[in-house]
Amino acid sequence: EQKPGPGTYPNAVLKATEGLVETISKHSEDALLELENFDLLMMRYDSAIREVRTKLEILNDELSLTRDYSPISSIISRRKKPMSIYQKLLKQENEISLASIEENLNDVAGVRVICPFIDDIYKVAKMLVQQDDITLIRVKDYIRNPKSNGYRSYHMIVQVPVFFSSEKKPMRVEVQIRTVAMDFWASLEHKMKYKKGLSEEVIQAITDDLAECAATISGTDMRMMGIRDRINELEKYNEI
Ligand code: GTP
Ligand code: MG
Repeated sequence: EQKPGPGTYPNAVLKATEGLVETISKHSEDALLELENFDLLMMRYDSAIREVRTKLEILNDELSLTRDYSPISSIISRRKKPMSIYQKLLKQENEISLASIEENLNDVAGVRVICPFIDDIYKVAKMLVQQDDITLIRVKDYIRNPKSNGYRSYHMIVQVPVFFSSEKKPMRVEVQIRTVAMDFWASLEHKMKYKKGLSEEVIQAITDDLAECAATISGTDMRMMGIRDRINELEKYNEI
C-alpha cells in the first residue's frame, strides 16, 4: 500500500487543509484556555467547600469540648461534576459558560450536614449564618414544609468569601442539613428516582411506601428528641 507523498495533492487542496488546521488549532487553543479557567473556577468551589466544612467542624469541636455535646454527626461534601453542570445549564436553558455557572448554579459546591436531632439542625444553621463573613442567600425549610413525597431537610444557599493571592471571591455553597433518619430516607428515595425501566405501578407503590416511611421517620425524630430531654433531666437529677 502506497502512502500519499508530497506532490500527491493539488496546491488548492493543500492550502485549504492548512487553513483548516490553523482554524482547528486556534479553536483548541481557545478551548484549552477555557478549560484552564474552568479548572480555576472548580478549585474556587473546592476552596469554598473547605471553608464551610471548617466552620462547621470548628463549631462541632467547640460544643463537644465545652458542652460535651455534638450537634453534628457527620459532614459530607461534593463538587458537581462537569457533565452535571452542563446538563443543569442546558435544562435551565441558560448559556453554557463559566460566567453562567457562577450566575445560575447554586449547587456546584455542596455540603451535607447530618445531625442527631431535629433541633440540632436549626442550631447548626443559626450558628453558621451568624458568622459575619457568611451571607445567607436563600433558605428552603423542607422540615417545616416537607415535599409531597415526604422529603425533609433544611436547605440554605450561603455565600462565603474565599481569599486568593490577589483577590477575595464570594462563592456560593448549597448546605443541606438533615437528621440521620432523614438522610437514610433521602438516600433510598434518591436511588429510586434514578432507576430506569420501573413500571408506573411499581413506582406508585414504592412512592406510597416511601411517603409512609417519611411520616414514621418524622414522628420518630420528634420522639427521639423527647427521649433525649428526659435522659438529660435524669442526668441533672443524678448530679444533685
Ligand atoms: P435543584 O435544581 O434540584 O437543585 O432544585 P432547587 O435549586 O430548587 O433546590 P432544592 O433546595 O429544592 O433541592 C436541592 C437538592 O436537594 C437536590 O439537588 C437534592 O440533592 C435535594 N433534594 C431536593 N428534593 C429532594 C427529594 O425529593 N428527594 C431527595 N432524595 N433529594 C432531594
Ligand atoms: Mg441540586
